[in-house]
Amino acid sequence: MIIAIDGPAAAGKGTLARRLAAHFDFAYLDSGALYRAVGAKALDQSIDLDDVAGLVVLASGLIGEDMAHPHLRTPAVSEAASRVAALTPVREALKDFQRNFADSPPGGKAGAVLDGRDIGTVICPYATFKLFITANRNVRAERRWLELREKDPSVIYDRVFNDLVVRDRRDETRQDSPLRPADDATLIDTSMLTADQVFEQALSVIAS
Ligand code: C5P
Repeated sequence: MIIAIDGPAAAGKGTLARRLAAHFDFAYLDSGALYRAVGAKALDQSIDLDDVAGLVVLASGLIGEDMAHPHLRTPAVSEAASRVAALTPVREALKDFQRNFADSPPGGKAGAVLDGRDIGTVICPYATFKLFITANRNVRAERRWLELREKDPSVIYDRVFNDLVVRDRRDETRQDSPLRPADDATLIDTSMLTADQVFEQALSVIAS
């Protein structure tokens, strides 16, 4: 069984995906971490974010510990991730890993939960269940701001909001695998919901 969860930044898809994976004892893949790892390594190694060949080398050579990069969740890496994610050769270099994860979940698990932007549309169009998790921009920016503030109290809300708008626009308008709900995805708007309510709604979709 494959559960595909897509949606924009800070909509709550990671929280939901982790809870569903724990509930069903499935493997979980945060596909955004792959793009973030490429972005983080490019920044570390001063590889230009337009240097497609150099970025493909990074994407093809990712190892597990790259996903634990200490700066993976910083605004600079978020921005770099969304830029490298717009490049088709980078996306191609990461595709097989994601499909293999879904088709043969590690640890002999009976299923996989993947979250990202194009899981239901491109990576696993054959997923058993597809959810599109969204929330209005102010709610998402506030969630992200509160999260970032735990590490850096000086982070400014307006900056977080503007970064989110830029990233949304880039993710939605890129030519390859733009962020959009699959035709057969169930939409859940989390703006007014608690994490528990989102989880219950997702479970009821899966049970139906
Ligand atoms: O989900 P997260 O915010 O960690 O993803 C970081 C960036 O990676 C996104 O802004 C998006 O540009 C890119 N991404 C993508 N496709 C995915 C997952 C993430 O393009 N499946």
